[in-house]
Amino acid sequence: MAIQRTFSIIKPDATKRNLTGAIAAKFEAAGLRIVASKRIQMTLAQAETFYGVHSERPFFGELCEFMISEPIVVQVLEGEDAIAKNREVMGATNPADADAGTIRKEFALSIGENSVHGSDAPETAAEEIAFFFSGLELVG
Ligand code: CMP
Repeated sequence: MAIQRTFSIIKPDATKRNLTGAIAAKFEAAGLRIVASKRIQMTLAQAETFYGVHSERPFFGELCEFMISEPIVVQVLEGEDAIAKNREVMGATNPADADAGTIRKEFALSIGENSVHGSDAPETAAEEIAFFFSGLELVG
């Protein structure tokens, strides 16, 4: 498997509890290099666009309100098989189902307040990176 890039969000529940460094350390320990990183606060319109694929889900409103409730840290992670590796390090969406040692098992509060987001495929990774980062912010 070649070197890939994936997109990550450290969510409001985690930034609020000062877990940005602890989560970044998990990525780095897994061999994922943080090649871009910034702390931002999304507008409601940005959150609704970013999570547009979930717009018909019953939790959509709650999800978007949560994602704008506090700053988030958006990152680009690079490494061998980065998309799958990041999903492994994050653990299952619902922390109750996450394996021991994963970010969500250790830090997530609930299925909604689950500390991190990570891209699920190469196409979404490319779209999500481009949504938050300009070419100038992405060094090799
Ligand atoms: P994420 O990887 O950011 O992608 C979509 C998010 O929707 C997901 O993580 C969860 O935080 C959230 N989500 C999924 N299912 C539920 C649910 N049943 N209730 C609230 N939020 C949910």
